Amino acid sequence: MACQLEQYGKHSGHMTNHSPSIVILTGAGISAESGIDTFRSAGGLWEQHKVEDVAKPEGFARDPELVLGFYDARRAALAGVEPNAAHHALARLAAEYSGELLLVTQNVDDLHERGGSPQVLHMHGELKSALCQSCEMRSAWDAPMLEAGGRRPKCPICAAPSLRPDVVWFGEMPYQMERIYAALSACDLFVSIGTSGAVYPAAGFVQEARGAGAATLELNLEPSEGSHHFAEARHGPASQLVPQWVGEMLGA
Ligand code: OAD
Repeated sequence: MACQLEQYGKHSGHMTNHSPSIVILTGAGISAESGIDTFRSAGGLWEQHKVEDVAKPEGFARDPELVLGFYDARRAALAGVEPNAAHHALARLAAEYSGELLLVTQNVDDLHERGGSPQVLHMHGELKSALCQSCEMRSAWDAPMLEAGGRRPKCPICAAPSLRPDVVWFGEMPYQMERIYAALSACDLFVSIGTSGAVYPAAGFVQEARGAGAATLELNLEPSEGSHHFAEARHGPASQLVPQWVGEMLGA
């Protein structure tokens, strides 16, 4: 066990007396084998829909019904999918690893939580959360935001019919960036799982961590756009690579 952990110590060559702290970033690839479409693969979400229509504030202002319907369908689809071995493995890591661990996801699905991960930082928001444009409060949400007859449900807090999906659109600031950058600058190991490295700021996390002296590892189906920034890369399906890597980290 010590060997695997020391392999990722920031001060290689020196004795480390603590478990390396880890930041994990996940993207759509970790949920692909659960049956959720990725964005940039052939036939992926951005081939089926225009980004400017469904993932920009201007698109929502132009056609709220289209946008609400798009996210309602994605939210409803969550009922038909299950977490896979990669989600479960990260939950096992959280339960058994003795060092610091921060799990950051760009995914808006709830598969990390349902896989057992106790704390998940959703930097691009969550399908099962509503953001009220009137009172700016968030509420847990698991119903359509576009009701029969085009009606909009009321905010549970202020009762205004002004809910929008609590997801970060292009041009908006991802959530909890200060906390993420603080963790990246202090971590010993940064691991990126199932993300194309095409969307900033997440695509820049590897350079941030590396610049601060961390080891970096990519686990992805194929080399991502940012693959060359990682000190180590392993390619294959997340359902195999992630449990294998977690096993190595836990020495079992
Ligand atoms: P992408 O669709 O851009 O990339 C998915 C990555 O997962 C690709 O590199 C695939 O090779 C990889 N992949 C696919 N199947 C896999 C598997 N079974 N195992 C391992 N890897 C696999 O999705 P993201 O990188 O998550 O943002 O996209 C980033 C952001 O772009 C999203 O959060 C979303 C999107 O536009 C917003 O909507 C703001």
